[in-house]
Amino acid sequence: MPARKPGAPKVSPAPATPNGFLNVVDERTGTSYRLAVEDGAIRATDLHQIRASPEEPGLLSYDPSFANTASCRSAITFIDGDRGILRYRGYPIEELAASKSYLEVAYLLIHGSLPTKSQLSEWLYNITHHTMLHENVQKFMDGFHHDAHPMAMMVSTLAALSTFYPDAKNIGDEHIRYQQAFRLIAKVPTVAAFAHRHSTGMPYIHPSNDLSYPENFLAMMYRPSWTTQYTPDPVLAKALDTLFVLHADHEQNCSSNAMRAVGSSHADPYSCAAAAAAALYGPLHGGANEQVVRMLQEVGSKERVPQLIRQVKEGRRLLMGFGHRIYKSYDPRARLIQQVAEEVFAVTGRNPLIDVALALENIALSDDYFISRRLYPNVDFYSGIIYQAMGFPTDMFPVLFAIPRMSGWIAQWIEMLQDPEQKIARPRQVYIGHAERHLEVTGVKEPVRRPARTVDTRPRSRAPGPSPAI
Ligand code: CMC
Repeated sequence: MPARKPGAPKVSPAPATPNGFLNVVDERTGTSYRLAVEDGAIRATDLHQIRASPEEPGLLSYDPSFANTASCRSAITFIDGDRGILRYRGYPIEELAASKSYLEVAYLLIHGSLPTKSQLSEWLYNITHHTMLHENVQKFMDGFHHDAHPMAMMVSTLAALSTFYPDAKNIGDEHIRYQQAFRLIAKVPTVAAFAHRHSTGMPYIHPSNDLSYPENFLAMMYRPSWTTQYTPDPVLAKALDTLFVLHADHEQNCSSNAMRAVGSSHADPYSCAAAAAAALYGPLHGGANEQVVRMLQEVGSKERVPQLIRQVKEGRRLLMGFGHRIYKSYDPRARLIQQVAEEVFAVTGRNPLIDVALALENIALSDDYFISRRLYPNVDFYSGIIYQAMGFPTDMFPVLFAIPRMSGWIAQWIEMLQDPEQKIARPRQVYIGHAERHLEVTGVKEPVRRPARTVDTRPRSRAPGPSPAI
């Protein structure tokens, strides 16, 4: 195996797997190859030497949806999907959720270690003093239709932020990179809250420097107006902060992969974050929390759970909030979220959907369909029920996922930029189309013109309904 380039992150996966060699015999030619195994992986480019004849391009590994391909070496987040283990920078998620704030965890993800007292106070100062949005961003958001989905508003607004910070393009400058890191973490709750206020027609509430990160977000969401007092509930603010810790990073998930892939072309971090947020929006990823609550509302009561299970087993629908590419046991975040739910319900009252969810989980976990496929509740199964109890509208749930995931995206983006082994992300393909073929007639190319329009002058009855979209 070629030596790792100097400066590439040295990762010691746990549990450690022995390094060595893999002997492969190509039965087409009888040739043997010795492929190095390091940290539980072979290098896909080592397969390139394997070819049936010198004219052939060399063996590719085919892995649609990256089911078994490591795209990077990373020292940020560790997951053991069989044992239900999640660690950020080596710390178990349970310990971080119990004793560290989201902003400390965000610092940990990005910098690799927990902040000292002075580092924390500088970090908090920087985040707190970058929460404001330029007035023109507000005007930009005003242009959205009243019923625009807040996650779609967030995706677009994150991309638009790149036009306000053109210096962010200097991704090679470490100082500029970190400046965008705290700008993005600081502004994402403001964008989220403004998206909500826009859809409800409520006045925007600007950030307050005297509130903590979750309190400030709750105030921007719920304070009726500047002239009305609003004190965020401390239990709800703490619960939200814990949920932010649980959602902060999850190694090479679909949105982090989007962040890295777009970042690998050296796009600015706002454009990368918009791409990552767009990936998160999908119902199979961060949009699942919204779909879970819609599904539970549709089921309505414990008695109707078997009907839903039947539809799932017949392949007619997915059980939203269940299953995971990596976890083949209980998602540790889902377990922690159940504890948070109890704390929240003590303030808000019990959300009746929790009983439907628990009944659903009980039936699913004793059913062979789910057991044989190792499908367990994931982070999205219970989070939406808590968000709903806290008064967040259903379409805000993916946005609530995006707020804390911003720190994970930034950590992944910075690690990717600092890794000298990383180049522009450019997968290969297995071509299955036509072999070379030719046009029947070749010759001079004629310009293609649109055919002249014939105008129908007959009187037309106008159908009632909305005016055509523009
Ligand atoms: N309901 C019913 N069947 C399922 C589900 C589900 N939620 N998830 C997987 N399966 C079945 C799937 O049909 C397949 O069955 P078969 O072997 O008969 O074809 C088998 O389980 C393996 O599933 P897969 O599609 O190969 O799994 P994947 O790793 O490609 O997909 C997933 C992972 C999360 C996209 C998928 O489990 C799913 O769609 N879940 C529902 C959406 C959801 O909750 N997403 C949130 C994920 S966690 C938060 C995040 O990181 O975003």
